[in-house]
Amino acid sequence: MAVTKEPHILILAAGQGKRMHSSLPKVLHPVLYRPMLHYVLDLAYQLPHRSVSVVVGHGEDQVRAACAGYDGLNYVHQPEQKGTADAVRRAKDLLAGSEGHVLILSGDVMLLQAHSIQGLLDTHFDGKMLGTVMTARLDDPTGYGRIVRNSRGEIERICEQADCDSSEKQIQEVNAGIYCFEMEALFSALGKIRDRNEQKEFYLTDVVEILGASGGKVTTSLLSDPIEMTGINDRYALAQAESALQARINRRWMMQGVTIHHPSTVVIDSRTRLAKDVTIEGGSYLIDSIVESGVVVEAGSRILSSVIGEGSHIKQGSYVEDSQVGTACTLGPYAHLRPGSRLEKKVKIGNFVEVKKSILREGAKASHLAYIGDAEVGENSNLGCGFITCNYDGRNKHKTVIEKDVFVGSDSQTVAPVTIGAGSYVASGTTVTEDVPKESLVISRGKQITKKGYAKKYAK
Ligand code: UD1
Ligand code: CA
Repeated sequence: MAVTKEPHILILAAGQGKRMHSSLPKVLHPVLYRPMLHYVLDLAYQLPHRSVSVVVGHGEDQVRAACAGYDGLNYVHQPEQKGTADAVRRAKDLLAGSEGHVLILSGDVMLLQAHSIQGLLDTHFDGKMLGTVMTARLDDPTGYGRIVRNSRGEIERICEQADCDSSEKQIQEVNAGIYCFEMEALFSALGKIRDRNEQKEFYLTDVVEILGASGGKVTTSLLSDPIEMTGINDRYALAQAESALQARINRRWMMQGVTIHHPSTVVIDSRTRLAKDVTIEGGSYLIDSIVESGVVVEAGSRILSSVIGEGSHIKQGSYVEDSQVGTACTLGPYAHLRPGSRLEKKVKIGNFVEVKKSILREGAKASHLAYIGDAEVGENSNLGCGFITCNYDGRNKHKTVIEKDVFVGSDSQTVAPVTIGAGSYVASGTTVTEDVPKESLVISRGKQITKKGYAKKYAK
């Protein structure tokens, strides 16, 4: 019978991650704004697989909730975290009766790329192996299990850091924590593992020695780029993994026609999509967003879960969240689009303008110091400096409608709910409290009194 090259995939994610010193389960710690486990799940779903399962234990409810978006994912419960061998053993019932191979991934090794794992699977299946271990050579192997080879150069066993003698500690080839095993051989070997080691844990790594001793074929697959095997055990490794991922993502976009200035300071998460000829200046953050071609994002801007339309210009220090910016808009410097804002074509939002849950239609402008909340602003309407929609009465929010071609003079307010009809003119300093019919002039300010010479007299 031909061996299927589609393994079952098992992700180990039940550990607490003591070295993180955190109340959040380790595998949920975010790396570039996503739980590290999501990267491993994405990888699993990308690879050929017959099923994907995750071993959960510490913080189980939280971990399960974080995985809710992954269809068809199986969960394996590990009641006590007694080590990686115990974690795999818990999957026996789930995988029982289904023959074939299992690919074991680790919830804290999230920089791996699909082609690297494919290399391990090819070695495993082409060589008809019982077990294949992913390894890497590190300048500083501290903390990782060492690959101990026999005189013929074959892998003999894996020795954990805590159990290494001084010569074993010198070994620079380490275990990446990623393996493929033939299932029957694996589960039978797991039954023989004891916790007689420094950490009093059941080590999955002991499977290698057990299989080898009974004449099973076990081999290794060496990673060409060791950074991929970074295991996130503490917050220093978390920061290193995040920087490595950031460099990888930024490089990919640069190769696809995006200009990034000072890329080590620019953060683009893995969900963000950029079109060609986008330019991003230093210190900017683009998270879970879509940025269309020709957009310029100036220094220090932050764009979260938003869409920026073709040719728009986001000037320095702007903050855009859960919003849609149409084509050829200008924003900032220092503009703030809060959730639910939608700018149509050629809208201009200038410095120190805050927009919340509002629609600004084509050509609308608010160039300086304004607050536009729960409003609809019609085509080509112009909101002057210091304009405020007073949308909140202390209890409820109300809506403001400013129809098209309205000119609102500086330092005016609208007290919602209120509508200003198309083509109207609001004089500077006006407080609009009642609806204004179209094409009207509205003015509400104290009449000016000028007392000639009075200032000079007063000063005496
Ligand atoms: C493990 C390997 C080590 C390897 C390193 C690579 C063992 C004994 N050691 O060490 O050789 O170099 O990974 O990163 O396997 N987990 C469970 N249940 C448990 C214990 C752990 O699900 O009872 C999960 C953890 O959540 C984690 C993964 O298994 O995702 C690895 O566990 P961890 O404690 O981080 O192992 P390391 O000490 O890093
Ligand atoms: Ca680890």
